Amino acid sequence: MAFDIDMIKGVYTKMAERVNKAREVVGKPLTLSEKILYSHLWDGNPTKAFTRGKDYVDFAPDRIACQDATAQMALLQFMQAGKTKVAVPTTVHCDHLIQAKEGAAPDLKHANNVSSEVFNFLESVSNKYGIGFWKPGAGIIHQVVLENYAFPGGMMIGTDSHTVNAGGLGMVAIGVGGADAVDVMAGMAWELKFPKLIGVRLTGKLSGWTAPKDVILKVAEILTVKGGTGAIVEYFGPGATAMSCTGKGTICNMGAEIGATTSTFGYDDSMERYLRATDRADVADAANAVREHLTADAEVYANPENYFDQVIDINLSELGPLLNGPFTPDLSTTVGSEMTEKAKANDWPIAVEWGLIGSCTNSSYEDLSRASSIAQQALDKGLKMKSELGINPGSEQVRYTAERDGILAVFENLDAKIFTNACGPCIGQWARYSDPKNAPKNSIVHSFNRNFAKRADGNPNTHAFVASPEITAAIAIAGRLDFNPLTDKLINENGEEVMFEEPTGWELPPKGFDVKDNGYLAPEADGSHVQVSVKDDSERLQLLTPFEPIGNTITGAKLLIKAFGKCTTDHISMAGPWLRFRGHLDNIANNTLIGAVNAFNKKTNFVKNQLTGDYGGVPDVQREYKKAGIKTIVVGDHNYGEGSSREHAAMQPRHLGVAAVIVKSFARIHETNLKKQGMLGLTFANESDYDLIKEDDTFNFTDLNEFAPGKQLTLEAVHADGSKDSIKLNHTYNDAQIEWYNHGSALNLIKKQNA
Ligand code: F3S
Repeated sequence: MAFDIDMIKGVYTKMAERVNKAREVVGKPLTLSEKILYSHLWDGNPTKAFTRGKDYVDFAPDRIACQDATAQMALLQFMQAGKTKVAVPTTVHCDHLIQAKEGAAPDLKHANNVSSEVFNFLESVSNKYGIGFWKPGAGIIHQVVLENYAFPGGMMIGTDSHTVNAGGLGMVAIGVGGADAVDVMAGMAWELKFPKLIGVRLTGKLSGWTAPKDVILKVAEILTVKGGTGAIVEYFGPGATAMSCTGKGTICNMGAEIGATTSTFGYDDSMERYLRATDRADVADAANAVREHLTADAEVYANPENYFDQVIDINLSELGPLLNGPFTPDLSTTVGSEMTEKAKANDWPIAVEWGLIGSCTNSSYEDLSRASSIAQQALDKGLKMKSELGINPGSEQVRYTAERDGILAVFENLDAKIFTNACGPCIGQWARYSDPKNAPKNSIVHSFNRNFAKRADGNPNTHAFVASPEITAAIAIAGRLDFNPLTDKLINENGEEVMFEEPTGWELPPKGFDVKDNGYLAPEADGSHVQVSVKDDSERLQLLTPFEPIGNTITGAKLLIKAFGKCTTDHISMAGPWLRFRGHLDNIANNTLIGAVNAFNKKTNFVKNQLTGDYGGVPDVQREYKKAGIKTIVVGDHNYGEGSSREHAAMQPRHLGVAAVIVKSFARIHETNLKKQGMLGLTFANESDYDLIKEDDTFNFTDLNEFAPGKQLTLEAVHADGSKDSIKLNHTYNDAQIEWYNHGSALNLIKKQNA
């Protein structure tokens, strides 16, 4: 069974009571986002109103989804928790590790060869701990979640930023780091700053060439890549209800591109149709019974300015198709003459080399059917494809149904390549070039979400533009970035002028969805006998060993690095080729802090080894200290650890023997991750004390044995000339977090509690 109807009914039973209680404590009508948040409080019934953008609140999500790249470390950690099963329904989806090259079958075979140990590991851990496993080729995590698990009014977290896609089915679905997912799998609460709320009122109706993708491309133009930060975007209005469920998913999906915590839509008939079409009539019936709780109170949408922190109005009848890019998803250009001018002014290559349709953003049956209606016209009108075209269906269910209905054949007749049901070019898994760094300047158009430099093909000179699937198809056929399918003619093989008519398509397959093998493996009811094997000499996977507590005596510690300026999680644990080692802590630790700038010489990965006086790379020097049994500290500037919630940025220094990270200020998630790994994450009480730290210093914590909430700690910095400075350090550890420190990590404590 893919989903758990009893769990969903349980959520709805609680929801009725909790929404009423929340309305009482908040003292006014509620948005949908508030209804979902307040009905998922860890402590049960709401007892107080939370301040948006300020209060940190504990939640109890209903589901977890992990993709293959992030699941590796998350599951390795979960194995440390001493549990026999995950506490919350969880699924793992193999979609990121499949490279697009020759086409679906050979590409999948290749991925199964090169990543078999990772896939086998994920499959066996899933089987052992009650986790649903979606095999390579089963589909892209967010499309599979929408088809099988998302439900109106639910809350889920996922170890991927586009988890937000499930808002298309009325969820509050949020992307998190692996450490957060592990907490929830292990039965702990999940903490989130209570979000601000942005309302987007959609009036009018999409028609002609305009698609849901254009709505989010417009919102990205309005809010920019940062405008949604810390907020839930809630869409409503007649334009919202007139849109398909998967179209809503597209809009929510790209909420990640405006930095939003998540996006959502109220339950409506399109969602009910989608639930029934995807074999979930019982979920639709259950949702219908609590319909009033699955959308905002009527007064909220009547006077949204009184209830949202910001309201944006978009009239869909006035919206035209857009192309966003290059290099950023918020740079909007209307197709046609505006693009002609901008491309000329900015020297964007007009010739389009590839059109790509797919990704978790736009790979539904509706997307493929509308794009294929354009492809069919090209065949009927004697047009040849000027660019190359690649298609990644979102799931095996979509692929199988699209093949049955002749949709894929239309693309193939135009010489398009059908790639695996996987992320492929969306995440750089695209063997387009042998030497991408030196590849030529070019333009591509795709229906994905992200278009940063190098994202699709590793070529910094590829100008990627984001568009709807139907516009992507039309531009790929025309082969020109400035082609406007609404007004421009093309010359066919007979030398005649022809024009495209508006795209058409089906919201849902007229003959229903079908699939032979959807790629799902249910876990065994009792997985206790399942062996999880990891080879000792594996390069990519390494079972974790519990961290030893650092202890309350830190004396004679050395400085590993005093980082200068910005030090993000990317500087601490670089991505790119290192992603290959995500499941192998010791191997990936060889990138620890190699991007951080040494404050003493302004160089990266070049720090003094106090044992020898020589300079070396940060991981190498740190390994020397570890070998000598010497603890170290890392010093940093403001907002240390900003960027992603990647737990590797805390686990790697911890693994290598760093005891404390002392900075002017932390990015909060990284600070929490350090605490979870049983390290000291401290801030200078007096920021200027950062300047007191010298390259040759030795450090003693003089009162760590009195570590307690709200009590400052003292660091004695002994300089090379024998002089000393006493430095006061602040911290935000509460009692429970000090216990994490005392036990070596949060997981060690959980394990002890489960013993
Ligand atoms: Fe995969 Fe791209 Fe979505 S990497 S999960 S298709 S954003």
